Amino acid sequence: MANLKAAGADTQETITVAITGASGAQYGLRLLQCLLAADKRVFVMISRAAQVVISTETDLKLPGTPSEQTSYLSQLYDAKPNQLTVFGREQWMAPVASGSGAPSKMVVCPCSTGSLSSIATGASNNLIERAADVALKERRQLILVPREAPYSEIHLEHMLKLTRMGVVIIPASPGFYNRPTTIEDMVDFVVARILNQLNIEQNLLPKWGEDLI
Ligand SMILES: Cc1cc2nc3c(=O)[nH]c(=O)nc-3n(C[C@H](O)[C@H](O)[C@H](O)COP(=O)(O)O)c2cc1C
Repeated sequence: MANLKAAGADTQETITVAITGASGAQYGLRLLQCLLAADKRVFVMISRAAQVVISTETDLKLPGTPSEQTSYLSQLYDAKPNQLTVFGREQWMAPVASGSGAPSKMVVCPCSTGSLSSIATGASNNLIERAADVALKERRQLILVPREAPYSEIHLEHMLKLTRMGVVIIPASPGFYNRPTTIEDMVDFVVARILNQLNIEQNLLPKWGEDLI
């Protein structure tokens, strides 16, 4: 007989975070840090292009394999044991690859226009694309944070198509009404928007009308 106690014991919410190769790796890394600080369990995927962007845009020395990346990021963000797991690009047996195992919330941050296209067309050629396809087929929460300028008609069509399917598009475009003075302030503006959508308490940015000015 199924062990009902064990099945119900793990009440910690899990969120999938995919970091792809658009500029703005900081957004994805800060999101990861905030989710861990909020005591969420996080399944992470980092595309090959994202690894290039991370080494271009940050001082991180991200190692090559998913298990090394798990240890590196867990240590960097002071994660609890098993709170953070990185999955590889063809790790098809990972929970995110199936509707029966995938968490109910997924964020692609930042989202390259390449991954945007693959998600909009259901390509599923790597684990990030497959996990997003699972989120779509299961009607789960999927948030994409694209960054490109300018957008082509193709990009905009993909965003419209996905929005009509219930996907939330949060462009990586920080506002200025909070008077940011550092890059971290600008990153936090976007990350706060993502956390709001995930319904996770955040104090990165006051709500509109509260202590803003
Ligand atoms: C430093 C750097 C910055 C990039 N910036 C962007 C960007 O802002 N937006 C974008 O869509 N692609 C950007 N690209 C290109 C993508 O990384 C590339 O299209 C890649 O194939 C995306 O693959 P992925 O979606 O699997 O990560 C950038 C690449 C590099 C190396």
